[in-house]
Amino acid sequence: MAGTNQFNYDDLFAKNAPAPAGGGAVRRGKYDFAVAYPDPVSIPTDELVDSLKGALDEEGGDLALYADRQGYAPLREFVAGKLARDRDIHVAADDIVLGDGSGQPIHMLLEVLVDPGDVLLTDDFVYTGTLSQMRRFGGDIRGVETDEEGMLPDALSGAIEKAIGEGRKPKLIYLIPTFQNPQGWTMSLARRQAVVEISQKYGVPIMEDDCYVDLRYDGEDVTSIYSLDDTGSVMYVGSFSKIIAPGMRLGYLTVPQGLRERAVAAKSGGSVNSFASYAVHRYATGNLDTHIGDINEIQRVKRDAMVSALGENFGSRAEWSNPEGGLFLWLKMPEGSDLVSIRDRVLETADVGYLPGPNFAPDGASGRNYARLCFGYCQPEEIREGIARLAEAFEKEGVAF
Ligand SMILES: Cc1ncc(COP(=O)(O)O)c(C=O)c1O
Repeated sequence: MAGTNQFNYDDLFAKNAPAPAGGGAVRRGKYDFAVAYPDPVSIPTDELVDSLKGALDEEGGDLALYADRQGYAPLREFVAGKLARDRDIHVAADDIVLGDGSGQPIHMLLEVLVDPGDVLLTDDFVYTGTLSQMRRFGGDIRGVETDEEGMLPDALSGAIEKAIGEGRKPKLIYLIPTFQNPQGWTMSLARRQAVVEISQKYGVPIMEDDCYVDLRYDGEDVTSIYSLDDTGSVMYVGSFSKIIAPGMRLGYLTVPQGLRERAVAAKSGGSVNSFASYAVHRYATGNLDTHIGDINEIQRVKRDAMVSALGENFGSRAEWSNPEGGLFLWLKMPEGSDLVSIRDRVLETADVGYLPGPNFAPDGASGRNYARLCFGYCQPEEIREGIARLAEAFEKEGVAF
């Protein structure tokens, strides 16, 4: 009978089942700087509809099939061409595996590589989604110090040697080298070369997560970490989420064959959403470069709006990164400020959402005086208003004002 809800699953959960995720809608501020979403107004809905219609007219009957386990081949061809042109990554379409966003490819790789207790190295503050997956597989996640050029090579070597000294050579180094989430910096070429050398020296592979790379508003492109390695020690992951829409749920990985075959075996659901793949393939083939140019113009204005609003409202009382691209910047309030305990009240009273530092900390606790502020989703006038409200709310809460 529906609705009685008497059956008790509590004793049935697998030992390593993740903690409850919570359900229903999450309260979001009107001035929502918490989410790393792209601009809602610039989602190319009409063009996606046309692209899908064209594809369905041509091969809609194939929806009756479970597609290739690695995903729709023409889209993999497209990705291979784009990686060769933009990232100096030269692989065949068969070396690429599509997935549900880039989150699933990351999950697949972690699933086949990580045993409970394995040491996993990453930046001192890094993308929450990957941290959750690393925790899910029981990883011993260790943050390595960074500065505005990315991970410090000496700190990385030190962390590897420490782990080796404990008899626990790290399994991998996870990096978001371009427009890092949440810190906003981009790793310099010298740092990329240094981490590749370290990876090769110690035999610890790198997972390069490049999902923001196309969102560059100024400065010069820096080549991929993958392109600097010729030994197969770099795994590369990318996504259409930030350049078309997260709702398309399409991303990809490219890794050496042996690992690829293991990762594909770990993939849930058999194949990849052909319906979305058709739309993205047809759309991307003709329009993606122009679309990226257009959204970057829009996002540059928003980034500038947030940086100047921070200057006007926070002045010398805070520090923040000024990223050359991506969707967010990293706010640092003075030592001792606690942006965690006031977060819900700021959301209630000022209607402003942000994510505090511990969300991005490998230990889940450090960085209470930091927050990630996303400028991608709100419009410029909302950004200006929201930052003014944030400053006012911090002042009311007694945060270093
Ligand atoms: C650094 C990074 N990697 C991966 C993802 C996963 O995105 P998706 O699965 O939509 O590609 C995100 C999403 O915000 C991200 O910030």
